[in-house]
Parts: sequence; structure tokens; C-alpha cells
Amino acid sequence: LSISPFIAKLPKVELHIHIEGTLTPELRWELAHRNNISLSYATFEDLKASYAVTLNHRPELNGRQPGIPTFLEAYFAGCEVLRTENDFYDLAMSYLSRCATMNVRYTEPFFDIQAHTRRGVPAEAVLNGYLRAQQDSAKSLGVHSRWILCFLRDEPVELGLQAYTEARPWAAGTVEGGKGLLHAVGLASNAYERPPMLFEEGFSVARKDGLHVTMHCDFGQKDTHAHMAEAIFHVCDGQGAERIDHGLDAEDREELWTGLVERNIGLTLCPHAYHRRTATDVLFPKIRRLWEKGVKFCINSDDPTLMHDVWIDGNMQKVYTYGGFSEGDMIQLVRNAVDMCWADDEIKTAIH
Ligand code: HPA
Ligand code: ZN
Repeated sequence: LSISPFIAKLPKVELHIHIEGTLTPELRWELAHRNNISLSYATFEDLKASYAVTLNHRPELNGRQPGIPTFLEAYFAGCEVLRTENDFYDLAMSYLSRCATMNVRYTEPFFDIQAHTRRGVPAEAVLNGYLRAQQDSAKSLGVHSRWILCFLRDEPVELGLQAYTEARPWAAGTVEGGKGLLHAVGLASNAYERPPMLFEEGFSVARKDGLHVTMHCDFGQKDTHAHMAEAIFHVCDGQGAERIDHGLDAEDREELWTGLVERNIGLTLCPHAYHRRTATDVLFPKIRRLWEKGVKFCINSDDPTLMHDVWIDGNMQKVYTYGGFSEGDMIQLVRNAVDMCWADDEIKTAIH
């Protein structure tokens, strides 16, 4: 599916992108050499080919196949080459430069700091690398960003709290002396038997610091409707999350989609992530029904280098081509993202 000039030119805002899921095989190869890490692939072509195949991380569907990693195993394996502040800077600049070419004016990337500190990487290497990229890309590319620390939901809650405490000096200005990188917390990684309410203390600590709260409710996972109900009605002292990442399953149940509408909770959808494992004539009518029900959502890419190199422009093109969305609807989808984002008014005005 090629990107039409209309989609290419459309100014964009991205609210669901995992920075580690933008690591290209090219940069991974380069960083492995820079850091003297031996990869289990003999050639660059072998490494590149490994990106084509991963298993669904839903354990009850898997029937493990030896030698093929699950999606999340592949994602965390890629992180191994990221060691120094410069590595994190290069990773972030590589994505932010691509934003400039796709006309993405503003982005709120997720980062998984626990995936790095648990390997012995100092938290400040991660945070200073991203902070420097945030500042440089705003200045040199006109691409603005505010970053979201994700709790790894398959790790103990205490480790998430510890990660947050370490990252706190890099938070928004609502935290005294905050350096302005981190503006929200999220919840990512394997949702299997890890409902959002387990992380209520983490959300509460971040909210007291004036940060925003979002959480993944991945499409088609075990207990996804129950997780959605918690995210809409129970977390954050019953106020619900400010946004939900994915959340497409809400379309199945009236109490969920009406809850989203009434509480004005927007969804960050990633159509290609679902299209990888869902038929076109099932998926896109579902997205369209959500639109007709009045649920607010925007279009994003999730983990583009691990998802066949389909970036935000490719995701928008899919909705445009397969979903029956007009040019006006596509513009509204970008307006939704502006509305849902956590930029300050100055940035919002600049990207409008
Ligand atoms: N699902 C859950 N967590 C994630 C993903 C995903 O697809 N990518 C990065 N973290
Ligand atoms: Zn995601």
C-alpha cells in the first residue's frame, strides 16, 4: 500500500509509539559493533530477516515454536545493544528525524526504562540521552516531544515505583526542578493476568506530581474487556485513565464505549498492529463503527520496525484506504490527536 500525497502532506501528531520499537536493524547492527556485542546473526541480512517473524504474545494461543520469539521477546532482545547515553540519543534522534520526513510535528513516545536498568544500564544514561534528543529535535527539526514512562506490567509493581522515583528529576516542571522530559506514565508489556488496578499506586504517585496517565488495553488479549472496564471506571481513584492505548475491544460492549464517550477518554489506535492478525473486512469496519459511535481516537504506529516498517503514515493510509474515511475525516483524526495530546498551549498552537 503506497502512501498518497494527501496522507504524506498531512501534518501529524503521534501518541502511541514505543521508542524501543523504532530501533531499525541498521542502527541495531551499528550499535552492536560500537559496543562490542555479538549478535546471534552472522550477517546484517540475517538480522534483518529476523524482523519478519514473531509469534503472538498471547500465551494460550501460542503453542510455542522453537526458535521463533514472541513479539515481546523480539522487542526486548533488540534493547540489548542500547548501553550508553549516546546510544539512547541516537535511537531517539533516528525516530525524531523520521518524524520530520513524515510531517509529524509533535510526538509522545513511550520508553521502558526498566528494560534497560534491569540489564545494568544506569537510568541517567537513558534519560539524558532522550532529554538531549528532545531538545535537539525541537531546535533543529521543529519536532516537539513529551515522553511517557511505561511501567512494565509483567514486572513487580515495586520495580515500577522504583523506576519512577529514579526518573522523577527528569519529569515535567510540575515536579520541582523537573527537567521536562517525562510528562506521563503508561502501562505496557505483557498484559496476561496483569490488570491495570495492580498499578494504582504508580498512577497515584505520578498524578500527585502533576503528570498524566495512560495505559495499554491491547486488542484481543485475554481479559481485555475486564481490563478496559478497570481503565475506564476504576483506576485513578475512580476517575479513569486520561487515554487508553489500543482499546479497540470497547466496540464490543455498550457499557465500555459509552463509558469512553461519557468520560471523554480517547483511544490511541494502531491499525497495522491489529491488521497483522485480523482480516481487512473484520478490522476496518470495526474501527469505523467505533467512529460512528462517537468514540474519540487517533491513529499511530506502535512498534513500526517490528511491524513490517509500517509507520504512522502507513497506518493512516490504511484507515483512509480500507476504512471508508474521507479526507475530512482524516483531518479530524489529526485534530483528535491534538486534542488528546499533553502539549502545552504554545506547542498546540504551533502544530494546529
Ligand atoms: N504490547 C504491549 N506492550 C508493548 C508493546 C505491545 O505491542 N510494544 C511495546 N510494549
Ligand atoms: Zn503499544
